[in-house]
Amino acid sequence: MINPKAVRTRRSYGILKEVLMKALAVLGYELHQSSGQRLTFSNFVNLAQAYEQRLNESGNLIVANENRLKLLPRLQGTPPSEAYFIVDALAKCKDARGDVCEFGVAQGETSALISNEIQSSNNALHLFDSFEGLPKPIEKDQLKDDMFSLGSMEAYTGTMSCPEELVRTRLRAISFPPQRFVIHKGFIDKVFRADSSLPKEVSFAYVDFDLYEPIKLTLDFLHQTTSTGAIIIADDYAFFSTGVKTAVDESLEEKNSNAMIYECLVPNTRYGCFAILTKRGP
Ligand SMILES: C[S@@+](CC[C@H](N)C(=O)[O-])C[C@H]1O[C@@H](n2cnc3c(N)ncnc32)[C@H](O)[C@@H]1O
Repeated sequence: MINPKAVRTRRSYGILKEVLMKALAVLGYELHQSSGQRLTFSNFVNLAQAYEQRLNESGNLIVANENRLKLLPRLQGTPPSEAYFIVDALAKCKDARGDVCEFGVAQGETSALISNEIQSSNNALHLFDSFEGLPKPIEKDQLKDDMFSLGSMEAYTGTMSCPEELVRTRLRAISFPPQRFVIHKGFIDKVFRADSSLPKEVSFAYVDFDLYEPIKLTLDFLHQTTSTGAIIIADDYAFFSTGVKTAVDESLEEKNSNAMIYECLVPNTRYGCFAILTKRGP
C-alpha cells in the first residue's frame, strides 16, 4: 500500500532539494551526492578474518571467534586495530597466573570484548571505574588532543560518565557469568585504599583512565600484583592528555632502574595510541 505521508515527504524533499540547489547555485556552489562508499558488516568480517589469519601466520595464537567480529565494530574510541592488540595480548598471557583487569570501563564495550576473549578460561575479571567520569586533571595533564572541542583540560572533568548498569547489561548480553566479574566502583585512589576485593594477582590489564594520577597509581598497583609474562596495555599513550605518556614513562624509568623488568612496545600510531608493557622479571 502506498503511504500518502511518505509520498508527501518525498515530494517536499524534492521541492526542498530544488530550492537548495538554486540557492547554492546563486552562491556559486553545486550539490553532489556522496559516492556512498561504506564498509558493510560482511566486508568488515572478511577484513577481520584476513587480519587474524595474517597475525597467526606470524606465530600468534588468536582463535577464530564469531562473537569477537560482532563486538569489534561496537567499540567506541578503540579502533579495531588496537583491539586486536588486546585480543593478542590476552591470548599470549592465557597461561600467566592471575586475573584480568580493566581500569576505566565507561559504557563497557571494551569490557565486553575482553570478557568474550576469556569466556573459556577460569580467570576472574575486575572492572574499575568511578562511573562519575574523569576526575580533575593535574599540572602534568596538558591538553594535547581536544577530542570533544572543550577548549581546556579542566573542562573534561566529569566527562565520560556512564551508568554502571550499562556495563552489567553489556556483559549479560554476551552471557558472561556474573560470578566471574567484580565491578570496583569509585575513584581509584580510594578504591586502592579501601576495597577489600582487589585482585591479588593480575595476568592482563587494560589501563584506560586518560589522566596522569590514576594511571600512575594503577601502574604502581600492577607492579605489586603482576607476575612474569603479564601484559599491561596503557591506552592513549601520547594522545589527549600529556599525563598518560608521562605516567607510563616515569613508571618504566622507576621500575626498570635496576633491571629490565618491563619491555615496552609502542606500536605505530596507525594502529592507535597505546603502549604495551610486558613483564619480564619478577
Ligand atoms: C576513556 S573512558 C574508558 C573507555 C573504555 N575503556 C572503552 O574503551 O570503552 C575512561 C573512564 O575512566 C574513568 N576514570 C577516569 N579516572 C578515574 C579515576 N581516577 N577513578 C575511577 N575511574 C576513572 C572514567 O569514569 C571513564 O569512564
